[in-house]
Amino acid sequence: MKPFIEVKHLSVSFPTDAGLVRATDDISFTVARGETLAIVGESGSGKSVSSMAIMGLHNPKRTLISGEVIVHREEGDIDIITASPEDVRKIRGKSISMIFQDPMSSLHPYYTVGNQITEGWLLHNEGGKQEARKRAIEMLDLVGIPDAVKRVDEYPHQFSGGMRQRVMIAMALVNNPSLLIADEPTTALDVTVQSQILNLLKDMQKEFNMAVILITHDLGVVAEVADRINVMYAGRLVEEGSVDEIFHHSQHPYTLGLLSSIPRVDEKHGKRLSTIPGQPPSLISLPEGCAFNPRCEFASRVPGNLCFTTKPESIVRSDGHRSRCHLDTQTLLTISKEGK
Ligand SMILES: Nc1ncnc2c1ncn2[C@@H]1O[C@H](COP(=O)(O)OP(=O)(O)OP(=O)(O)O)[C@@H](O)[C@H]1O
Ligand code: SF4
Ligand SMILES: [Mg+2]
Repeated sequence: MKPFIEVKHLSVSFPTDAGLVRATDDISFTVARGETLAIVGESGSGKSVSSMAIMGLHNPKRTLISGEVIVHREEGDIDIITASPEDVRKIRGKSISMIFQDPMSSLHPYYTVGNQITEGWLLHNEGGKQEARKRAIEMLDLVGIPDAVKRVDEYPHQFSGGMRQRVMIAMALVNNPSLLIADEPTTALDVTVQSQILNLLKDMQKEFNMAVILITHDLGVVAEVADRINVMYAGRLVEEGSVDEIFHHSQHPYTLGLLSSIPRVDEKHGKRLSTIPGQPPSLISLPEGCAFNPRCEFASRVPGNLCFTTKPESIVRSDGHRSRCHLDTQTLLTISKEGK
C-alpha cells in the first residue's frame, strides 16, 4: 500500500528561557489511505506537537523543525516542512484536516454550527451560500445528528458534548480529506459516547477511504479502531507495530507498563490495574542513555550499564514491528508473557 503521508526524521524543538525543549526527536512513520495509525503515549510525550507539524501549524519563528513530512497527492508530492505557507494553507482543511481535543474551544459560540461547517467548504470550493447550507445539512446527517435541517441553524451550546464532537467531525470531513488527524477526540466524553464517536470515525474512514491518525494517551481505546500503533515516550517513538503485536507481543517495557494500566472489562469503570511509577522526564534535560531508565524495572537486566549510558536504537523485532530497547527480543518476549 503506497503511503499517503510519510514522516521522515521529524524533530521539533522549542527554544525557551529554561533551555531547548526537545518535544519530538527523529520520528519517522507512514500512513496509507484506508489505514488507522494510533499514536499513544503519556501526557507531554510529543503527540500533539508531531500532529501540529504535519498540519504545518507551528510558528516558524518560535520553533526549530527538521525532517520531512511528505504528502503524496494526485497533484504531486509536497513536503509540508519546506512548502510555502500558501501551499500549506491549500492542503490544510482540504487534503489533511484535524479534530482537536476540546470541541468547545474549537467551535465559536456566536456562529451557528451550519456556518462553522461550511466555512471550510467555502474556502476550498466554488459554491454559493445555498449550496454550502445543503452541504452542512448533508454532513450533519452523515455524522448522525438527527433533524439536521433544524439543527444546522443552532449554536454549539445547544448541543451535548458528544453531539459537538460529531459537529467537529462534520467540519473536519466537509472537504473529503485524504488524511484525518484526530487528537484525543474522545477524552472529554463518557465511555458510551466515546465508543460511539470512535465507531463513527471508523465508518467515515471506510466511506471515504481516508488515512487516519488517532492520537490518545489511552491505549485502551485503540484496540477496536486502529490497524497499527506507534508508542511515544519523551518525544521518541519507542515501539511501532500492528495492534496484535503491541497488545499481545509487546517488545518494550514502557508499552508493557501502559498495557497493564488499561482497565479490564470485568473491572469497575475507571479502576486502573496499575500505573507506571514515576513521571516522564523533563524534555530540556533528558536522562543519559534510555529516557525511560528512571522508571524501568528491567534496566538492571541489561549488561554493561548500557541503559544509563547509551540511547537505544530502534530494532526490527519482526515484520513491521520495531522497538527501542537494549533488551534482546527473547528476553522481551519472556517479560511480555510474564506480564499477562
Ligand atoms: N510552544 C511550546 N513551547 C515550549 N514547549 C512546548 C510548546 N508546545 C509544546 N511544548 C512541550 O512539548 C512537549 C510535548 O507536548 P505535546 O503537546 O505534544 O504533548 P502530548 O503528547 O500531546 O500531551 P497530551 O497528552 O497532554 O496532549 C510538552 O512537554 C510541552 O510542554
Ligand atoms: S533500554 Fe533499558 S531502560 Fe530503556 S526500556 Fe529497555 S531495558 Fe528499560
Ligand atoms: Mg496533546
